[in-house]
Amino acid sequence: MGSTVSRIQVLPEELANKIAAGEVVERPASVVKELVENALDAGAGSIVVEIRDGGRRLISVEDDGEGMGPEDALLAFQRHATSKIARPEDLYAIRTLGFRGEALPSIAAVSRVTLTTRRRGDPEGFRVDLEGGVIQRAEAAGCPVGTGLVVRDLFFNMPARRKFLRGAKSETDHIAEVVGRAALGVEDISFRLSAGGRELFRVSGNGGLKERIAGLFGRSLLETLIPVERTWGEMGLKGWISRPDTTRATAREILVFINGRPVRDRVVLHALLEAFRFMGPRDRYPVAVLFLEIPPSGVDVNVHPAKHEVRFVDGAAVHQLVSYGCRAALEAAGIPEAGQGKDPSSDFQSMPTPSQRVAQTAWPAESWDKHHFRSQEAPLRLIPFPASEQGLARLPLVGQFHRSYIVLDGGDELILVDQHAAHERIVFHRLQTEIRRGTASFQRLLVPQVVELPPRKGRVLEKHMDSLRSLGVEVELFGEGSAVVKGLPPHLKDVEMVQMIRDLVDELAEMPSSRCMEQGLDRLLIVLACHGAVRAGQTLESDEMRHLLEELDRVPGARTCPHGRPVVGRFPLSAIEKMFHRR
Ligand SMILES: Nc1ncnc2c1ncn2[C@@H]1O[C@H](COP(=O)(O)OP(=O)(O)O)[C@@H](O)[C@H]1O
Ligand SMILES: [Mg+2]
Repeated sequence: MGSTVSRIQVLPEELANKIAAGEVVERPASVVKELVENALDAGAGSIVVEIRDGGRRLISVEDDGEGMGPEDALLAFQRHATSKIARPEDLYAIRTLGFRGEALPSIAAVSRVTLTTRRRGDPEGFRVDLEGGVIQRAEAAGCPVGTGLVVRDLFFNMPARRKFLRGAKSETDHIAEVVGRAALGVEDISFRLSAGGRELFRVSGNGGLKERIAGLFGRSLLETLIPVERTWGEMGLKGWISRPDTTRATAREILVFINGRPVRDRVVLHALLEAFRFMGPRDRYPVAVLFLEIPPSGVDVNVHPAKHEVRFVDGAAVHQLVSYGCRAALEAAGIPEAGQGKDPSSDFQSMPTPSQRVAQTAWPAESWDKHHFRSQEAPLRLIPFPASEQGLARLPLVGQFHRSYIVLDGGDELILVDQHAAHERIVFHRLQTEIRRGTASFQRLLVPQVVELPPRKGRVLEKHMDSLRSLGVEVELFGEGSAVVKGLPPHLKDVEMVQMIRDLVDELAEMPSSRCMEQGLDRLLIVLACHGAVRAGQTLESDEMRHLLEELDRVPGARTCPHGRPVVGRFPLSAIEKMFHRR
């Protein structure tokens, strides 16, 4: 076999730095983020940021932190040079914002940098000039205590990257967002940002968090925000959230800090949306500033080169802390529960689940990462059926597929109906309507059924017996853990009783308190509907399918099941023809 000689080479440092820069330095705002983080890590009390031309021409960040001696000032530009960790195990106890030792070399590799720095007590300071990562000059210099970094001509040696930068205005906005966020994470440090000599943002070190939020969101919004505070074990949650009637079209105003680090985290976002799920209008996001304190060993910060993602050791615990904390805060603020005062069914039915919404959420200012959130586009795609279209029962029935889907001929589209999801939606709607009208009924079981529960769950059941009765579920408790089910809503037939009661108790156990009951009831109804609905895998006769479709047509806007999964999907003829190369 002919040999192709391929040799492994260590990349020249300049090149390696440029590659790392691709991860860390996406745009001027990422430079600002890294330099501000360094200033914060250095214990600054005041941070002054100045930019020109959206940061493309100049970024300057000055702090009054601990400064560096001459040796450190030179070392700082070497790859993986950091004063913040020394041993692998330090990665699990990170209290600083930085730790990778990559920012300064990466920034220096793609710009012209001047560093001036002086430690307190040193008679003079030190200055280093670099161009494209190569040191041009290093010498003693007079300067105040602290550190100043001036970054000029970003990407001057990477024309392709330079071309991708947006206009000055847009880059300035991103920088303002980065500085505003950084300021939120720390209460007692003053910040100033100016662009082309004009001041854009300023907070003093003693106005407290509220001043910072007002600076970012405006004072009138601040006044409507609801405080959140909750601890759980060693974890703590603090912050503010908007009332459900104050919403935004994007997640831009959901700011999350973990141990002071601004992050974009899906677990926290999901939990927050979950807390708002039955309240706010769909497709909208609340405003929130949330600070989570988690022991450093419980969170891995070494996940993303730009450090804005983290991984939790116990994500479920974090999720519960956030979702209960926010729900309890809404409750305490006397927010009317789910759907009161508006037509509950219309809002609820087309509400995507928090998971779907998290998947759809692209965090702003991070175009780099957006593709992570976009779903893969399959060539033949199931398109959700519009809620406005009814009349499924009138379409020619093709049959049942996989004993789970009803297949319909929609003329210029092939239509599939998920039988379980459809029935679930129907049962849910019936139960919900009756309960809201106060006409919920129950049917006595011919033979009461006994369900054994662990004592802890028995106590939960006992506490909520009345709410179950209001749903038409009649239960009595014998001893610590034996429940006897005597009656059920008439719509539920052939249910797996044991599993259903256990699921109900699990939901009950999760409910923060009886004051959330309306929202809680919906969750219980979902359990009932799920158990009461025909299963996937169950053969249906034509008339059963037709009957189901007729009922589905009567449920307004029923295009998702109560869990938020689609009920009806369609394959357009055009897509099918494409698949067979007819077009
Ligand atoms: N503003 C600053 N004040 C004092 N020291 C700094 C400052 N910026 C950087 N340094 C020093 O330079 C080192 C390298 O910085 P950087 O490349 O951002 O890596 P990291 O922050 O991950 O350690 C830091 O560990 C710190 O010791
Ligand atoms: Mg750093």
